[in-house]
Amino acid sequence: MIDLRSDTVTRPSPGMLKAMGAAEVGDDVWGDDPTVARLQAAVAERAGKEAGLFFPSGTQSNLAALMAHCQRGDEYIVGQLAHTYRHEGGGAAVLGSIQPQPIENAVDGTLPLEKIATAIKPLDAHFARTRLLALENTIHGMVLPAAYVEEATRLARGKGLATHLDGARAVNAAVASGRGVQEICAPFDSVSICFSKGLGAPVGSVLVGDKALLADAHRWRKVLGGGMRQSGVLAAACLYALEHNVERLAQDHANAAALAQELGQIAQIRVTGQATNMVFLQIPQEHCAPLEHHLRQHDILMQALYGTRLVTHLDIAEADVEIVVKAVKGYFAGV
Ligand SMILES: Cc1ncc(COP(=O)(O)O)c(C=O)c1O
Repeated sequence: MIDLRSDTVTRPSPGMLKAMGAAEVGDDVWGDDPTVARLQAAVAERAGKEAGLFFPSGTQSNLAALMAHCQRGDEYIVGQLAHTYRHEGGGAAVLGSIQPQPIENAVDGTLPLEKIATAIKPLDAHFARTRLLALENTIHGMVLPAAYVEEATRLARGKGLATHLDGARAVNAAVASGRGVQEICAPFDSVSICFSKGLGAPVGSVLVGDKALLADAHRWRKVLGGGMRQSGVLAAACLYALEHNVERLAQDHANAAALAQELGQIAQIRVTGQATNMVFLQIPQEHCAPLEHHLRQHDILMQALYGTRLVTHLDIAEADVEIVVKAVKGYFAGV
């Protein structure tokens, strides 16, 4: 199957499975797992932060970070399109008693500075206490401009806010921009980095930040049910990914660019955007379901919607791009 629905669909490679099988483990709730400790230290070092904490998912890592930064009745400023706000079940409000203050994202994924400034509430008993600015990088595949991130986080800090980055794809951002992961993470107090997206591990995210913040996040991780036992088996997959799957992200970005370029030649399809490993398309409504069906017959999985997204990853080879384009062209030739 050529599965373009998401970069979360990758299967662990034989090398990764071997590393998982060979992992030295212990009970990580007791702090005994040496492989988890090694992963946490390695990610913290790469990100230029004091410490790291391993989580089963990006959703939980983001939520524990929000809960570590904000108390009950506090507020975080976040984009309408942000994963933490839109796609995580409202966890900050539901489980954290944190009020989200969403702001409309600009087309480049940024939150306009004047809107951030306006959203920050004065200290007054009438208002939730604005505590945190949360950004996402990449967002919809787009790398946030470094100068923007610098300004937005400076503005937040100037108003006494902490800053968090949902860096589920921070490594894609680093590879695409030629900046290091450390540079992408530097402006933020905390960053959640996923290993189960472009990096190709089956599960796992690491939250990085300073030790005091991570001590709070560690407690919330336990409360949220994320304390894992012999999780070195999973951490080994993430360590393998760090060693083997970082530089190759450039190939995913090139494959996405080629896919966008080629699909853009098809009259019925409108390519509305491409950035890093994501391609955004518009497909005429009447063709959505039949195209999806046609592609499935050719062992290609994509969600064909009017506005849809294709995502490249390490299980999509360069040659697969041509196979997909040929199959899409074949469908439209027959209608
Ligand atoms: C930007 C972003 N943040 C966070 C997450 C959550 O990660 P997980 O699925 O591991 O909970 C995702 C998942 O796709 C994501 O795309």
